[in-house]
Amino acid sequence: MRARKYIKSDMVCPIPGGFLVTIEGIDGSGKTTQAELLARFCSENRLSHVVSKEPTKGKYGQMIRDSALRGRMSVQEEIEVLDKDRREHVKKLIRPALEKEQIVILDRYYFSTAAYQGAHGADAEAILSENESFAPQPDLVIVLDVPPEIGLQRIRDRGDIPNQFESIESLERARSIFNDIKRPYKVTIDARAGIPWVWFWVSKHFQVRALNKISRQLKNVSQHDLSVEDALNRTREFFGEDRLPIVATA
Ligand code: TYD
Repeated sequence: MRARKYIKSDMVCPIPGGFLVTIEGIDGSGKTTQAELLARFCSENRLSHVVSKEPTKGKYGQMIRDSALRGRMSVQEEIEVLDKDRREHVKKLIRPALEKEQIVILDRYYFSTAAYQGAHGADAEAILSENESFAPQPDLVIVLDVPPEIGLQRIRDRGDIPNQFESIESLERARSIFNDIKRPYKVTIDARAGIPWVWFWVSKHFQVRALNKISRQLKNVSQHDLSVEDALNRTREFFGEDRLPIVATA
């Protein structure tokens, strides 16, 4: 049997260039749960992946979290701190993982800066383009759309106290910025429906986009130093008849 070079461990990711997916939405929309389900899906299908979140646990990320609890900085200061946090995140985790052809699952990325800092007066489109100048653009952005009242109720139901980023009015503005973002890789899911239904759509969008990326690579095989046979093997590995993706149940 022919050796398959791209299998580095028992985990495989057949997508050249990796795959970057970010889950976005206002607080209480269910991002963390869906990111965990997607990670489980990847593990069950032996797809090499990493899960991360913003703000990160690093120095700058912690400054943002502290300000959410104790009192906010100016919007411009927040944008600067988030920028430093993200540059570190891109350098240390996101780019290296994509270079290793891994699937990178993010719980918030720069779309949250556009929505949250945009909700406090910053220019959302300018934030998106600034970030696009240094941060890898995702293959898929999933916006979980929920009315702020429901998001805040979910936060209280799990015993947490909404922070200062989370007044109904500012969340409503953040929600409409998320919904207005126009990028070809963005999809919006109605997140009022509950975990299993939302997961159904998250997993479908992920699989369709991943398969699309693989077929785009097939058309550009020479640019990626990949033989057609290798590319076909990769596709089979992802969605082959012998190993259909297992859909993790919520
Ligand atoms: P959150 O995802 O709620 O983190 P955790 O659950 O670990 O506390 O993020 C904390 C807050 O930071 C949240 O209310 C949204 C805000 N935030 C921004 O205002 N801009 C951003 O760019 C990001 C990533 C988060």
